[in-house]
Amino acid sequence: METIRLTTGKGDIGRAGEIIRRGGLVAFPTETVYGLGANALDEEAVRSVYKAKDRPSDNPMIVHIADLSALDALTEGGMGSLPQTALVAAARLWPGPLTMVFRKSAAVPFATTGGLDTIAVRMPANGTARSLIRAAATPIAAPSANISGRPSPTTASDVLEDMDGRIDAVIMGERCDIGIESTVLDMTGASPIILRPGMYSREYLSKALAADIRYDSSLFFDNGNQVDPADGVSNTDFKPRSPGMKYRHYAPKAELILVEGDSDGFERKTSDLISQAESRGKKAAVLDYGDRPELAAHDFFADIRELDRQGYDLILVKALERKGQGFSVMNRMLKSAGCRVIK
Ligand code: TXA
Ligand code: MG
Repeated sequence: METIRLTTGKGDIGRAGEIIRRGGLVAFPTETVYGLGANALDEEAVRSVYKAKDRPSDNPMIVHIADLSALDALTEGGMGSLPQTALVAAARLWPGPLTMVFRKSAAVPFATTGGLDTIAVRMPANGTARSLIRAAATPIAAPSANISGRPSPTTASDVLEDMDGRIDAVIMGERCDIGIESTVLDMTGASPIILRPGMYSREYLSKALAADIRYDSSLFFDNGNQVDPADGVSNTDFKPRSPGMKYRHYAPKAELILVEGDSDGFERKTSDLISQAESRGKKAAVLDYGDRPELAAHDFFADIRELDRQGYDLILVKALERKGQGFSVMNRMLKSAGCRVIK
């Protein structure tokens, strides 16, 4: 299949909307990462997303809307049945990098939700994404536009690297502002639970929503990530509640290792490891984002894709402090590293 390159111009967005309405697949920019969009209410279209990504079909997708009124038809009982905190979150934080999980309505195919009776919904802030959803005149199911397991794409050329020839079109938009995926918040229980951390941190969300927001225990998959269970963790059964969390993710071709410690220790350890690698004829690189989680989020996926293109064998990454936004970026880095951390 030939993958059409589209611009962010009005005519091309109209064409992209038409492709989605007809059941096709279009990759598009959002403020977090590029999404691979399909009509969320069209079972066939959604199935072809799993195929294009080589994604296991029990991994549910996020459904993107442009207007709050679209929530009504997607959720069980409609907007009137949603918890107050969800309405506050929607009013304060949408459009933006926040996904909320609700009970789904019968209109949403199980193919979209990976067989679950819940649905994840997000209203993106990116102007192109919103124009596309309006042009398609339907909610758009969109996982990140990468082959399953690869780093998420934050530029249109990253999308083409994985998806050229596998999807109908790519909107050649700008580089993503944020660079890691949205915070996923489960709103189906008594209080909200973070299933996937993002740039809206637990601390920020707790304040913004005036609610006690906890991390799902599955986020502590590496066991080095613990905070006091009394402060922050929702349960201790360690079963992934967000099915996406159980798969290996974000992996570059190179071996990736996180290095934890102060600046001096980091310098010493990385120069040792680099000389060792180079003496074996390997190419090694260091990624150090200092104490800047926003910078790390913005650059990390793009950087590891670039180092792969340049043929690096080993990537050493300076670990961030695991709090606030740093906790969220470390979630991605730990997965990329397959949890390999050196002190
Ligand atoms: O920022 C984002 O959220 C990006 C852009 C494109 O919007 N999308 C994205 O989609 O990251 P994806 O498919 O790569 O990740 C979806 C995540 C997975 O971890 C999945 O398990 C979780 O959301 N999820 C989706 N529906 C869910 C549900 N009903 N219950 C629990 N988790 C759900
Ligand atoms: Mg993804």
